[in-house]
Amino acid sequence: MIDELKSRIAEIEDDLVAWRRDFHRHPEVAFHEERTSRVIKEYLEGLGLPVKTMAGTGLRADLRGGGDGPTVALRADIDALPIQEQGDKDYISQNPGAAHCCGHDGHMAVVLGVAKVLEGMKDSLHGNVVFLFQPAEELPPGGAIGMVEEGALEGVDAIFGLHFWQPLPTGKVGSVKGPMMAAADNFRISVKGRPGHGSMPHQTVDPILTASQLVVNLQSIISRNLDPLKPGVVSFGTIQGGTVYNIIPEEVKLTGTVRSFETEVQALARDRLQEITQKTCEAFGAQGEMEYEPGYPPVVNPPEMVDFALDVVAKTLGDDRIVEIDPVMGGEDFAYFLQKIPGAFLFFGMGDGQSFPHHHPGFDMDEKALPQAALLLTALALEFLEK
Ligand code: NI
Repeated sequence: MIDELKSRIAEIEDDLVAWRRDFHRHPEVAFHEERTSRVIKEYLEGLGLPVKTMAGTGLRADLRGGGDGPTVALRADIDALPIQEQGDKDYISQNPGAAHCCGHDGHMAVVLGVAKVLEGMKDSLHGNVVFLFQPAEELPPGGAIGMVEEGALEGVDAIFGLHFWQPLPTGKVGSVKGPMMAAADNFRISVKGRPGHGSMPHQTVDPILTASQLVVNLQSIISRNLDPLKPGVVSFGTIQGGTVYNIIPEEVKLTGTVRSFETEVQALARDRLQEITQKTCEAFGAQGEMEYEPGYPPVVNPPEMVDFALDVVAKTLGDDRIVEIDPVMGGEDFAYFLQKIPGAFLFFGMGDGQSFPHHHPGFDMDEKALPQAALLLTALALEFLEK
């Protein structure tokens, strides 16, 4: 089977590069992927697949196999970044202020390629394949949550997705059993006191002293409330208040971020931030308000699905392609799919010859990774249906 797949993928190698470059030339940022969505929809309908629009610019296409069996979904994110691209590639962004500097152009090309290959084999499939093209991965609350609400996973038994990964050499593949990508939240705190003269503090409620104490007290969330064997971060990024040396100001504002790999850690940080802010401010006679803005939940891969996926990597690309990787503190809304059904998220290396990291204005990818990733995703779908 692998040899047949390889020759089918070889036939679409030029298509993969052409699609990727077309998306690269015409990047669209989160929730504005109109052209992108239209191009994908037209192509999939051209293959004869029914396509449903969801979450604004998102798409679900269904391929029914000739025989009965489970249903597996493959997901590509479709948004670009609000970045002005730099460089002289001949497929450079034609949309000022938008660029595919994360590799989502490659994800779309690969999943389109898989759709084309599997469509050509549909009579022999025992089960069905769903292709999900998801908007707005880069902008919380993201597009995945809306896709799930609008039925992206209806009737789906498992889901796989990959992210092209510049830190890995081309063709190397890594995943993590359990938490792989972090929940990345942010919070804002306002501490309000009563302003007055710096020489007469007894007539004021000092928000600077209160905020200083608050920063210290909030460090106890990680050091005293969190299980020491679990990772978590509470960091402040800004603290602002006051205008001049001898006035006690009315308000101090703080912002910060919470990073965690487990939903329970995230909830603990949020609840304790609220409680400690209220009580510390109360103790000083000030008013404290905390607003918490959740990012994505952590990406958590069921271990047995990672085993399955890496097994397919070994079978299709070779076991020397599998690399050990650590979890990363970045976020990814593939997390919402994995909260509903089993699946696995993979990092696929495309870093050969690439000197710029993800989200850099000069970012590019080694396009030799495109057919390899298409082969892997095709095999993942087929192997899952045979399982
Ligand atoms: Ni990305």
